Amino acid sequence: MNITVINGTEKHGVTYRLKEMFLTAFRDHANITEYYLPKDCPNFCNGCISCTIKGENTCKDAAYIGKIDKSLLEADLIVMTSPAYVFHSTGAMKALLDHFAYRWMPHRPASEMFGKRAVIITQCLGAGAKSTAMDIKHSLSWWGISKIGIFTGALMGDIVWERLSEKKRAELTKKVEKLSQKFARIDYTKPAYTNWITKTKFSICRSMQQTLHKNDPAYLDGKYWAEQGWLGKTRPWKA
Ligand SMILES: Cc1cc2nc3c(=O)[nH]c(=O)nc-3n(C[C@H](O)[C@H](O)[C@H](O)COP(=O)(O)O)c2cc1C
Repeated sequence: MNITVINGTEKHGVTYRLKEMFLTAFRDHANITEYYLPKDCPNFCNGCISCTIKGENTCKDAAYIGKIDKSLLEADLIVMTSPAYVFHSTGAMKALLDHFAYRWMPHRPASEMFGKRAVIITQCLGAGAKSTAMDIKHSLSWWGISKIGIFTGALMGDIVWERLSEKKRAELTKKVEKLSQKFARIDYTKPAYTNWITKTKFSICRSMQQTLHKNDPAYLDGKYWAEQGWLGKTRPWKA
């Protein structure tokens, strides 16, 4: 199986340690590809909306985004990590997610995403891990992923793992290992179940694309939906 990991920080800190613990159950049988931000996507989206209007290959950062997009599409499991920075994901993670706005369901979601699983790992010192996870979950769910596991933790002591109490370290370790074992038990030869929330979002976007495509058959998003057969009876979760 293939796992693609997007690390929201280059620091080998607590987030990195928890992610390593999560991956332990997969190391002996998975191909793991890791990206570190901002190194692997160092620029901000400048809002030109060229990706939406003209195509993702026209983005000034297409070389970075194309590589990560391909890796995400080939992954059976996507792992995204970030510490909480002022209650949200790192700026580097947000900059990456902005680049993938064209993959949101109202634009051109990839059919592969609908059968995938993803895991989000976030932690903080006191509060903000949950809202950090939500920053990432919004994108994953709007890309079409229904099965998303979330780890959130609060250190409540120190920012350095070794200086945490033994009790706290054991608590965080147990929690991340539980999530890891849950995801290690999955049969990745079968696609994940697409839930009704994803199907409802898809249905709303489909109605929108039907109108857009009718009014302007050259509009890229509408053309894409028509080409996938989604304006007819084809559905990505049945592919
Ligand atoms: C810019 C910045 C903002 C932060 N904001 C928060 C916050 O809102 N809430 C919180 O509990 N901790 C916050 N922290 C602390 C980190 O989330 C915490 O130290 C975390 O364990 C760092 O993870 P890392 O070792 O993987 O870098 C912040 C740290 C930084 C550098």
